Amino acid sequence: MTLQENKKRLIELGGKVTTSWLSAQIDFCVQQIQKNMQRFGTDFPSACATNGKYRIKPNDDWTNGFWTGMLWLAYEWTGGEEFKERAMENIQSFQQRLDNHFVLDHHDIGFLYSPSAGAGYHLTGDDSCRSELLQAAEVLIARFQEMGNFIQAWGGYGDPKEYRLIIDSLINLPLLFEASKLSGDPKYANIAVKHYRTVLKTVIRENATTYHTYYFDPKSGKPTHGATHQGKSDDSIWARGQSWAVLGIPLNESCLGSIGVPRIYSKIVDVFLENLPADLVPYWDFDFNDEHPSDKDSSALAIAACGLLEAEKLTAYPEAKALAAGMIYQLGELYTAKHSPENEGLLLHGVYAHAEGKGIDEPNLWGDYFYFEALMRLAKPDWRRYW
Ligand code: GLY
Repeated sequence: MTLQENKKRLIELGGKVTTSWLSAQIDFCVQQIQKNMQRFGTDFPSACATNGKYRIKPNDDWTNGFWTGMLWLAYEWTGGEEFKERAMENIQSFQQRLDNHFVLDHHDIGFLYSPSAGAGYHLTGDDSCRSELLQAAEVLIARFQEMGNFIQAWGGYGDPKEYRLIIDSLINLPLLFEASKLSGDPKYANIAVKHYRTVLKTVIRENATTYHTYYFDPKSGKPTHGATHQGKSDDSIWARGQSWAVLGIPLNESCLGSIGVPRIYSKIVDVFLENLPADLVPYWDFDFNDEHPSDKDSSALAIAACGLLEAEKLTAYPEAKALAAGMIYQLGELYTAKHSPENEGLLLHGVYAHAEGKGIDEPNLWGDYFYFEALMRLAKPDWRRYW
């Protein structure tokens, strides 16, 4: 399929999205969350499911905020106090995590604290959420490397083997913009801007495809080379990496108050759209296609849909909303767990890390979260994002 054909089909499918269709899909999400709440209690689900069931774990991964974010989405949709209470309990657990600096030596602080404490502050005005968000922002800026102007993604701070950023980092930056807004201290946003500019200059290839990660020389700070971690190869396009760019760029431009996006953005979206196979749900890496198939990553499509809905607000891509609606229609009709009553996911057929054999053809928390977020964005166009 060509780019134009894929766009045409998505827009046609998007035309089938009605208010009642959206309500029915959101009601399913809420029911699933309600059911999962019983089993998870005050613990957290694992990053991805195994045979359709999440493992129950403490708050110890980069993905825990997605669960809390889903509780907030369910609260916003229903007004049900039980969702708010559980979300606030989760937020206490996130505070303990900060107090003990427990599994926080990485950059995924925005993924953890924006949809938990950040959403909590916005929805309740509770001051403890505000101070938690500011503490979290301190943890994130502590990973900033002056040599290279970037926030180090993983590993010991300054470890030469881990002297790199990754494309996913774009979603961690809104936390810093929010921290500056709430505190009046520009230091957080200043670091976010520096990191964002470095991302745009490095991990995005000239042809608008993306590397997953990009290394720097620790002595000079010069960018050295791109490499994958979760994609098929260093030169391939990891589908979720491309979708993190589709979402991350308009998110950051919006935080910056821009009225436009970098020129390359529309090509980044084109790359995503032209690599969609016949059912419009991407394989986990764009080296695969219907002739040479592999597993699908439904989560990449949910993330891209949220990105296009953010891009719509900046008029950054033509017919962005209609395209996003088509993506969500296809996921809603073909990829949800609504006909698999034993499955705990919202969205089936995601991939976490293929090379590691992790979460292949399983639901995962970010797929579930962004599917629900996209539905909410479509159902309530003035919904205030958690990022
Ligand atoms: N941010 C990690 C991932 O997308 O798997």
